[in-house]
Amino acid sequence: MDLMEYQAKELFAKHGVPVTLGRVVESPDDARAAAEELGGRVVVKAQVKTGGRGKAGGVKLAADPDEAVVHARAILGMDIKGHVVRRVLIAPAAAIAEEYYFSFLLDRSNRSYLCIASAQGGVEIEEVAHTNPEAVAQISIDPVTGVDEAKAREIVTAAGFPADVADAALPAVLRLWDAFVAEDATLVEVNPLVKLADGTVEALDGKVTLDDNAAFRHPEHAEFEDKAAADPLERRAKEKHLNYVKLQGQVGIIGNGAGLVMSTLDVVAYAGEEFNGVKPANFLDIGGGASAEVMANGLEIVLSDADVKAVFVNVFGGITACDAVANGIVSAFKLLEERGEAVAKPLVVRLDGNNAELGRQILADAALPGVEQVDTMDGAARRAAELAAAR
Ligand SMILES: Nc1ncnc2c1ncn2[C@@H]1O[C@H](COP(=O)(O)OP(=O)(O)OP(=O)(O)O)[C@@H](O)[C@H]1O
Ligand SMILES: [Mg+2]
Repeated sequence: MDLMEYQAKELFAKHGVPVTLGRVVESPDDARAAAEELGGRVVVKAQVKTGGRGKAGGVKLAADPDEAVVHARAILGMDIKGHVVRRVLIAPAAAIAEEYYFSFLLDRSNRSYLCIASAQGGVEIEEVAHTNPEAVAQISIDPVTGVDEAKAREIVTAAGFPADVADAALPAVLRLWDAFVAEDATLVEVNPLVKLADGTVEALDGKVTLDDNAAFRHPEHAEFEDKAAADPLERRAKEKHLNYVKLQGQVGIIGNGAGLVMSTLDVVAYAGEEFNGVKPANFLDIGGGASAEVMANGLEIVLSDADVKAVFVNVFGGITACDAVANGIVSAFKLLEERGEAVAKPLVVRLDGNNAELGRQILADAALPGVEQVDTMDGAARRAAELAAAR
């Protein structure tokens, strides 16, 4: 999960990283009140989960509360790389002397952590990395020993921070590492980390990605979820512990195993080219041991997507054999009928693998309304696309 800047800064503050929190508002009037409270000279910053806000006009300095209102009005509702701004952060204008770049991240390819830091930070860091890569230091971090005082010193030296800044930045580096580890983040980025006019160092921006695999250790992270932005179907699927991603097409997809589901998306998209360009409507992996209830929940979510015109259930029997899946589908139909959500869209089922014959027989005997079986994945994809295009 990616955090917005103000949320990242709240986490930073919790771990003692020097930040100024400011106020998050959703209207120009509240922007005025916040600016007045913060002493007039403020910066108005779009809160969206994407970079390059400054360049897009989403970060503006205001000399007084009137100007803060003007900027807030312009920034609220702005579209930054497909993210609509619904909140702005009002923060006191900082007296910036210099801007640096700093980040900790998970380095998957080297199975370790990495610190990237540069004395040439600010909104042009991507450009610096491109034209002057020596100015951007990459320091590998041993996950076992982490970042202690000596490692922090090595980092600020490699980054080329001036001596006075290096001293002032040391505690910030250590506290950022604390935040990175304690919050189970995969990214903690500060651009810019600034030296202020008084010589102190502060994180003026913050970008944090939390590791969703560690969510169970952090019930407190739930508050960071942007419920309004989440797709309602995805939200319902999540409540049912389903691995579901909403897409823009018309063919609902249910499969077992992430790899199979991904290739199902491909074959449906390919087959769909022949039928008015219909596309997969979602990704849904019901996993290896799909019970009737999981199948029912999956069907319910996929069928309640108004865009879905036909559903393709693609199962390769493994540990859970095809007969169990077929019984799951039959029970799912019953369950949905009992819930008053009887299946009313065509369903193409392809069963292969362990006990495929038995599974196909069970489905054939059940004669469920709207259910067709096709034995091959390509053939089933084609039929599902055809049915979706015809409705
Ligand atoms: N509180 C502040 N006071 C004065 N100037 C600021 C303040 N916050 C940001 N700025 C200036 O605005 C620039 C851009 O701000 P920021 O880094 O938050 O956005 P960004 O880098 O464009 O966005 P992103 O990090 O999402 O790509 C900073 O480099 C800094 O010069
Ligand atoms: Mg930034």
